[in-house]
Amino acid sequence: MTGRYNRVTVETVRLLEEISGRSNVIFDDREKLEAYSHDEVAEKAYHAMPEVVVKPKSAEEIAKIMKLANERLIPVTPRGAGSGLSGGAIPQYGGIVVSLEKMNRILDIDLENLMVTVEPGVVTNHINEVLKDKGLMFAGYPMSLETCFIGGNVAENAGGGKAIKYGVTSRYITGLEVVSPTGEILRLGGKVRKDVTGYDLIHLFTGSEGTLGIFTKITLSLLPLPGARAVLLCLFKSTREAIAVVPKLLRVGRIIPTSIEYMDRLSVVTSCEYLNEELPYRESEAMLLIEIDGKNIEEVERDYETLGDICTRNGAFEVYVADNRTTIDRVWNVRKNIAEAFKVKTAHQSLEDIVIPTASIPDFMEKLEGLQKKYKLPIPCYGHAGDGNLHATPLKPDDWSPEKWEKNIDAILTELYRITAGFGGKISGEHGIGNKRKKYIGINLEPSVISVMKSIKKALDPNEILNPGKIFP
Ligand code: LAC
Ligand code: ZN
Repeated sequence: MTGRYNRVTVETVRLLEEISGRSNVIFDDREKLEAYSHDEVAEKAYHAMPEVVVKPKSAEEIAKIMKLANERLIPVTPRGAGSGLSGGAIPQYGGIVVSLEKMNRILDIDLENLMVTVEPGVVTNHINEVLKDKGLMFAGYPMSLETCFIGGNVAENAGGGKAIKYGVTSRYITGLEVVSPTGEILRLGGKVRKDVTGYDLIHLFTGSEGTLGIFTKITLSLLPLPGARAVLLCLFKSTREAIAVVPKLLRVGRIIPTSIEYMDRLSVVTSCEYLNEELPYRESEAMLLIEIDGKNIEEVERDYETLGDICTRNGAFEVYVADNRTTIDRVWNVRKNIAEAFKVKTAHQSLEDIVIPTASIPDFMEKLEGLQKKYKLPIPCYGHAGDGNLHATPLKPDDWSPEKWEKNIDAILTELYRITAGFGGKISGEHGIGNKRKKYIGINLEPSVISVMKSIKKALDPNEILNPGKIFP
């Protein structure tokens, strides 16, 4: 498909400068462009250089860029903070990267309607910092929340660590302003909590991985900030025991915790080493991090005692309680840094985010063990066990050459995804398909389904210039 597109000429750059201002265009500066050639996917195979980067400040500018790109058949790739994990923001065919970094204003905090309207380049955690004093929160909680942009969260329909109780990003989006691939500015939804007026385009654009439109305004519904929270750190002697408790917490405990996170030993050790942190993991093969929030500490205590009890009765040999801000943050920090810690360890790895029905997790873990034995490589596993969303991460063993890794990883992933699909699971629960998983999408989706998706893409983007080379093989 590369041949279909035209290169960015000096004249195109001049027109882009006219639209967004000279200081907001990067061209002819390899070092600066390089920063826009990758996301957090470690493998170089999934990186690609842009020809030009533009940092617009408004929907109108983006609309003009899209019109220009259509006229000249130049691909456009939207980009948030670059914290993605599937190559969604990579300019696969070069062309223009539209970076949303300068559209970072909080436009409106509506205390009467409990809604906030933001631009896409706001750092997700910043929204909560601003809302804290007002006793409100946005419930999204991706592990990269201190660096990622809310626009990227919408583009990927980010999940994260609190989805078991609060759901994923899409649950909170009531309004979107989107620039379509052909350069129309679409205003969808608003501040209403119900809306069946026409097709539900908000949910079509959400999670479309930057292939159907570029978000320029996002309205999110907010929740009251819980008055108290606590974290249980439950230590188990085996993976099987730890994982078998997960469905029991909900069914027997009849409590929906804020988070049920699973971490195996290698994940905890690697993150602790990376952070120079100590957690009491000595004899433990697997840990659960369970967070509970509620109106007040009494309510939270009652719940964590119930859940702690269930863990102890089902094999936890130690249950620690963290109920002050510092210890809660310390424990979460270890959890949040696992991905980065493995990345620092080796670029030859594949951070996966398969999702399966929660009841199948114990059987899945057994199969994962089989896969490690078969290929003789470590596949540490951690993630959002409460959602069945697990970050199995095949790592290149030290005694494998990079060539051996390249040769085997495709078969390993194919097998991992087939196992996942066998349980009725999906190859991506929160990171998306991007350029990284597109060749495997057929494991999950039937040709008829792919065909419907492609027709939608074609209807919105007849020239296929918005983020080409993603999702579909
Ligand atoms: C996490 C990222 C990798 O859960 O999704 O840490
Ligand atoms: Zn995750």
